Amino acid sequence: MYILAPSILAADFSRLGEEVRTVADAGAEYIHLDVMDGAFVPSISFGMPVIQKLRPVTDKVFDVHMMVEEPGRYVADIKKAGADLICVHQEACRHLDRTLNQIRECGCKAAVALNPATPVETLSCVLKEADMFLIMSVNPGFGGQKFIPYTLKKIRKLRAMLNEAGLSTDIQVDGGISAANVRDVLDAGANVIVAGSAVFKNDAAANTREFLEIFSRY
Ligand code: DX5
Ligand code: ZN
Repeated sequence: MYILAPSILAADFSRLGEEVRTVADAGAEYIHLDVMDGAFVPSISFGMPVIQKLRPVTDKVFDVHMMVEEPGRYVADIKKAGADLICVHQEACRHLDRTLNQIRECGCKAAVALNPATPVETLSCVLKEADMFLIMSVNPGFGGQKFIPYTLKKIRKLRAMLNEAGLSTDIQVDGGISAANVRDVLDAGANVIVAGSAVFKNDAAANTREFLEIFSRY
């Protein structure tokens, strides 16, 4: 099953609720929420109060991408704010196994993200401990960047590792994805697609439907 996760980082923050409702009504399954701390990544975005205010807008899956150092410190609060799925960076967790357990224990789905330069082999010990893996296809921190082609090889390798382990875990890809290159990412073995600028520039409902149309014909 292919899932679209519009990243609200590219939405109009002055009418965020409306933007979330638009993509949810157009059929997006996940709402991708990029939390940045200005330490793990150079930029600062938003945190718990924004997620909490958006929660009543839709019952779609709130997919929270934590671009923060030691995200384990925030798991309980992010869950309380309304997260359904919490994604932490392998590079930001000193005790990744503990953090993944923490996420699952609080009733959320757990995901692990990798920066472009981090090899997928670093996930080999936790293949069974996560509900999703996120391969970053840009360096995290900003929307609107260019897709890094070598990350396709990582998606293929991770899909092969999962197949070999008898797992059909979701692989999410995030950064620089548009209707023009999304098929390459699906071909490589990803099934959860994050798109920020490609969804929220111009007509967000029409852009969402375009992605879903591609998925349905894939
Ligand atoms: C980047 C964020 C992404 C970003 C994607 O650090 O994790 O989710 O919003 O934006 P686009 O699709 O514009 O590259
Ligand atoms: Zn993201």
